[in-house]
Amino acid sequence: MDPSEDWLRHWHDLRPGATSRAFLRGKPSTYEWLAGHARPGDRVLDLACGDGALLSLLRARGIQGAVGIDMSEGELAAARARLGPEATLVKGRAQALPFEDSSFDLVTCHLALMLMRPVEEALAEVRRVLRPGGAFVAVVGGRIAAPTEDAWTMLVRRLREEPFEGPSIGDLRAYSEEGLRELLQPFVNVRIEPILVDLSGTCDEVLALFRETYDVTRMVPARVSAFEEALRMDWQALLRPDGTLPCSMGTRCVSATTETAR
Ligand SMILES: C[S@@+](CC[C@H](N)C(=O)[O-])C[C@H]1O[C@@H](n2cnc3c(N)ncnc32)[C@H](O)[C@@H]1O
Repeated sequence: MDPSEDWLRHWHDLRPGATSRAFLRGKPSTYEWLAGHARPGDRVLDLACGDGALLSLLRARGIQGAVGIDMSEGELAAARARLGPEATLVKGRAQALPFEDSSFDLVTCHLALMLMRPVEEALAEVRRVLRPGGAFVAVVGGRIAAPTEDAWTMLVRRLREEPFEGPSIGDLRAYSEEGLRELLQPFVNVRIEPILVDLSGTCDEVLALFRETYDVTRMVPARVSAFEEALRMDWQALLRPDGTLPCSMGTRCVSATTETAR
């Protein structure tokens, strides 16, 4: 098992729900994009389900019995609190899914595929548990060209100058369209669409997003407050009359099927 996996599990055990706190307010909603692929009667697996935000949306859309799996007990406890005891939530690794072959019509994955290493093993498991013609839909983090500079592009530029402690996470190929296409070669009908998610907010709201990233945990602790002060100064130039900052994060919306389209 890759050593970064333990680091990630521990991170999520301590901060369950960090992703949904950031992305449930994103526009457009990447959770809704995924949920929109489920049809009534589909057997759905949400891979790396976190605190159950997507499972809850699926349920609201009338999709019954979707299963969530995650390796973090902390995230699963938050999902249980959100969804109640009737939800099927399983602790496990994407690389060793505890499900029979062809058990699902649809596998969803929100902002987790790029964290998995080895990611090929996770994708092989997705193919195995999907029925022939079943669909895999994923929202994958990754930089895409932002139309203009905003609070997040400024932040990322400053981060590049920071020394980091701790492991590298995930597989770099998953962060680019070219790399994703390579990884998804065993699938057919692969579609990849870049989506910029608007997460604009006040300085404090955007800093709150930053404080729940993996990056801040891997920064040299003594540098964090100076880093934030410098960011606040950078951001003054971007402030809108209503006191908010433009802020967006890049994602790629991926859909693919095993063999023929469903
Ligand atoms: C960024 S969070 C996303 C959570 C949720 N999908 C959401 O968007 O709200 C990444 C999640 O992936 C899980 N994860 C990462 N690698 C995993 C793996 N190899 N197997 C199972 N879960 C994994 C983490 O525990 C964490 O809950």
